[in-house]
Amino acid sequence: MFRNLQKNLQGQLSRKSWQISKRHSSIVSVHRDTKLNNPSLPFEFNSENRKRADEVIAKYPPQYKKAAVMALLDLGQRQAGFTSIAVMNYVAKYLDMPPMRVYEVATFYTMYNRSNVGKYRIQICTTTPCQLCGSDGIMEAVSNYLKIKPGQTTENNLFTIQEVECLGACVNAPMLALNDDYYEDLTPSSVVELLKSLEAGKVPEKYGPLSGRDSCEPFSGPNVLLGDKPTDISKLTRSDL
Ligand code: FES
Repeated sequence: MFRNLQKNLQGQLSRKSWQISKRHSSIVSVHRDTKLNNPSLPFEFNSENRKRADEVIAKYPPQYKKAAVMALLDLGQRQAGFTSIAVMNYVAKYLDMPPMRVYEVATFYTMYNRSNVGKYRIQICTTTPCQLCGSDGIMEAVSNYLKIKPGQTTENNLFTIQEVECLGACVNAPMLALNDDYYEDLTPSSVVELLKSLEAGKVPEKYGPLSGRDSCEPFSGPNVLLGDKPTDISKLTRSDL
């Protein structure tokens, strides 16, 4: 165990080619008008998203409807493909918010893409728990196989890779998020198999741990709560409570 940690920490010191590009979380967002991303491009929710947006807004008191901003930006991103300036301005208008407040939210969270991404957006976590379990090897395998670095998209517009901070699945590290699904307990070879099946047009039905674990139970199998009947808690607690 100690040797593995030492090896991984030493690995950190020798910078790999993919580590030269910027981390997604450290990109300073500055908007520059482009053909595909400028305020004059029309955007509005389709009827389905307008209905969803109104349902979300209805959850908040009318004076706090701006609390729905994250959900509405997500709807906009799913409809437009990325969180363009037109999407942000539309959301600002929809929620009666100053556009700057919406820009602040959209540029803070890495879940919002400020430019177009490929069909498969791959976010690879390289925060400490994943790093200690080999995320360097995962990133290297993905970068080498797709021949792109984090922040880049393949020429066929199929894959975008991003290096991100903790995605909250540390117990099954190393892991990545493929669009909305998590793939965990990865190895360099299992991640390449995953990419190959995506290239072949097949999204594996099984997401979560790819190691054979069901969830985050120990690799040696469950060793607690093994009885078939739940413990009668009343025998263990004071009856007057
Ligand atoms: S550190 Fe990778 S998911 Fe938490």
